[in-house]
Amino acid sequence: MSKHIIPHDYQVSKNDRLDSNNHNSFLLWFTGLSGSGKSTIANVVEQKLFSKGIKTYTLDGDNIRKGINNDLTFSPEDRTENIRRIAEISNLMVDAGLVVLGAFVSPYKKDRENIKSIVKDVNFVEIFINTSVEECERRDVKGLYKKARAGEIKNMTGISAPYEAPESPDIEIKTENESVESAAQRIVDFIIPKLSR
Ligand code: ADX
Repeated sequence: MSKHIIPHDYQVSKNDRLDSNNHNSFLLWFTGLSGSGKSTIANVVEQKLFSKGIKTYTLDGDNIRKGINNDLTFSPEDRTENIRRIAEISNLMVDAGLVVLGAFVSPYKKDRENIKSIVKDVNFVEIFINTSVEECERRDVKGLYKKARAGEIKNMTGISAPYEAPESPDIEIKTENESVESAAQRIVDFIIPKLSR
């Protein structure tokens, strides 16, 4: 099918958009268990960037799994498709000139590698929100761990489905030892040099 698709050559380029924004665009990818603090930290990072005039957008389970990916479950195959679609959406947003923050469990190493190949290595910053399953279960913000223990939720990451931790993330945050504010500031400090044109 794709051999009959010939991309049109648009005259406004990614470079033009980055020049106009006066900053580079890339994807900040937050991975970690459910309840680890991904969205909480991403939210503070986005506020810090936004207040500096950086064009941002956050993608997370709530806006994606309730909308474009509402046909997907938590089976390994559907998680792979979830992440593939999000990577393609992120790629378009990075092309549009945005700093995209993606907060997804993304438990499989091969799926995270796939994001990197879709958006390109240089546009991808991997942030491992490393909170132990014991601590996530203790917090149980959404009550999902309780339901998983009761057998009401199958394939719960960390309980009845695997989480493959990143081996060499760009940034690792241990939320049991570091505040949200300090973690968010550390991420912003890491990416500031990447923003400048
Ligand atoms: S991913 O594995 O495909 O990357 P994603 O980040 O989109 O997952 O969605 C995870 C969110 O869905 C969790 O934060 C949690 O609120 C909810 N959820 C519901 N069922 C599960 C499950 N079986 N495993 C993990 N998260 C689940």
